[in-house]
Amino acid sequence: MYRTHTCGELRIEHVNQEVTLSGWIQRIRNFGGMTFIDLRDRYGITQLVFDMESNAALCEQARKLGREYVIQILGQVQERSNKNANMPTGEVEIPVKSLAVLNKSEVPPFTIEDESDGGDELRMRYRYLDLRRNPLKENLLLRHRMAQEVRKYLDNQAFIEVETPVLIRSTPEGARDFVVPSRMNPHQFYALPQSPQLFKQLLMVSGYDRYFQIVKCFRDEDLRADRQPEFTQIDCEMAFVEQEDILNTFEGLTRHLFKIIKNIDLQEFPRMTFADAMENYGNDKPDLRFGMKFVEITNLAKQKDFVVFNDAEYIAGICASGCAGYTRKELDELTKFVQRSQIGAKGLVYARYNEDGTFKSSVDKFYEESDLKKWAEAFDAKPGDLMLILAGPKKKTLPQLSELRLEMGSRLGLRDKNVFSPLWVVDFPLLEFDDETQRFYAMHHPFTSPKKEDIHLLETNPGAIRANAYDLVINGVEVGGGSIRIFDDKLQQQMFGILGFSPEDAEAQFGFLMSAFKYGAPPHGGVAFGFDRFVAMLAGNDTIRDVIAFPKNNSGRDVMIDSPSAIHPDQLNELAISLKKNPS
Ligand code: AMO
Repeated sequence: MYRTHTCGELRIEHVNQEVTLSGWIQRIRNFGGMTFIDLRDRYGITQLVFDMESNAALCEQARKLGREYVIQILGQVQERSNKNANMPTGEVEIPVKSLAVLNKSEVPPFTIEDESDGGDELRMRYRYLDLRRNPLKENLLLRHRMAQEVRKYLDNQAFIEVETPVLIRSTPEGARDFVVPSRMNPHQFYALPQSPQLFKQLLMVSGYDRYFQIVKCFRDEDLRADRQPEFTQIDCEMAFVEQEDILNTFEGLTRHLFKIIKNIDLQEFPRMTFADAMENYGNDKPDLRFGMKFVEITNLAKQKDFVVFNDAEYIAGICASGCAGYTRKELDELTKFVQRSQIGAKGLVYARYNEDGTFKSSVDKFYEESDLKKWAEAFDAKPGDLMLILAGPKKKTLPQLSELRLEMGSRLGLRDKNVFSPLWVVDFPLLEFDDETQRFYAMHHPFTSPKKEDIHLLETNPGAIRANAYDLVINGVEVGGGSIRIFDDKLQQQMFGILGFSPEDAEAQFGFLMSAFKYGAPPHGGVAFGFDRFVAMLAGNDTIRDVIAFPKNNSGRDVMIDSPSAIHPDQLNELAISLKKNPS
């Protein structure tokens, strides 16, 4: 038997018991005639003791071991004279009677400690070692627990988990597909699913009125902290429901997870329309942990000789409480921040509302105290506050001001990781017009239903149609999104037309869906949560990489297994693929 107990298990009540433990050596410390080894496994750490006086040979042997060796020991648990209250096993230790080395280890390339000395790239290359560290271990355990809770909760609500295929067909909507060549069908390709969207809708047609799946999805898009090329969704669909039913069901799931995992009782989630979110926060995923709503002063600010404002379509700002004392340097930093190419503002106007009631602004040349006072009223600013203002075309200025708001929120410590502000953003536009390609794209996806009251705009003003689409946003992160679907084949066909599909193309790509809709499709809708994002949020991590066992780096590479990689010419031949030029 390799072990009678784990390294996290032994307590004072085990004293005098003979135990066998197996694990990895975390640390070896020598003190005169004594040697201490911290033995680690997934469950914790137990202190082993070797005593030169009672067994010199064994003690010598212990001193020759190295970090991360895998050993097995036998000994009798004893109470420690020097207890460690910070460790669950800190009241006991094991004087070792016999020791076996199960495997040696080379010196690991970085320290296996909570704060490792290894850089990102190195730790990714040796991910299996990085996963030995507590922070990652805790994340994987949390991920596991959340997955179990999701299954339990949804099972209790009569949802069934159904697996959908991973080799499907490529469709032109959404992100780019990852494709897989088919050996048996030369020059034809499968695509990996960006989500099980169509299959879950077909399951509704089949009558499985509550479906879910914790499922891998694949998208070939630019990567960021919250995006991986393969990621996991909690994917759900329900039949005979309206938007309210879906929001309530999945608000329930979200509240359950927060309660079980963090012991937090979330209040009812507020609902905000997309239009309000954009107008007040310049963002369809507002971080509501703090206020700083936008205040528009276009009319108020236009009356003087300041050309920048007079030429601007939209002038708006935020009020940063208690920041009137910001130094020149701090204000320059903020100006540079909004001028960064990723944000692209031309400049930043500020107006200090000093504690003594006076004003000082970067546009004092153009505006008098009485003007600034009116601004302050509009901003509901108090003495001691700072007004930060941007101007320009509305479409560009809103997201710039949103970045500034988030930056100020961070600077003022208003984005506490232990505070959670969820909301539903609803009434998204159905379509988005792309200036470059001069056509409409579905904002969510082509299967999303327009709002009944807006359907009449389909022919005349499709850009103004609102959709039965919603996102779950928590702390400025889009945790989930979904919609009520079209379930009428004619409407679906019309939608494809608006999206620029010829009837033949629509038939070729989505004929199976439209024919399914001819055989009794029930009204249905659903949602998908980004499971990695959800776990990262509850783990307090900024990047989803930290909650994925074997993630890709920002170039989409797995540096541990060195993938993607070239394949053997024989494999290419078999797949009837010829490469013009081999990049390697
Ligand atoms: P959507 O495309 O909004 O909807 O995706 C749902 C959720 O998945 C997460 N997500 C990602 N997480 C990590 N890496 C990525 N690359 C990534 N892309 C998306 C987000 C997002 O909110 N089929 C629809 C859902 C539906 O309509 O039911 C869908 O996939 O958290």
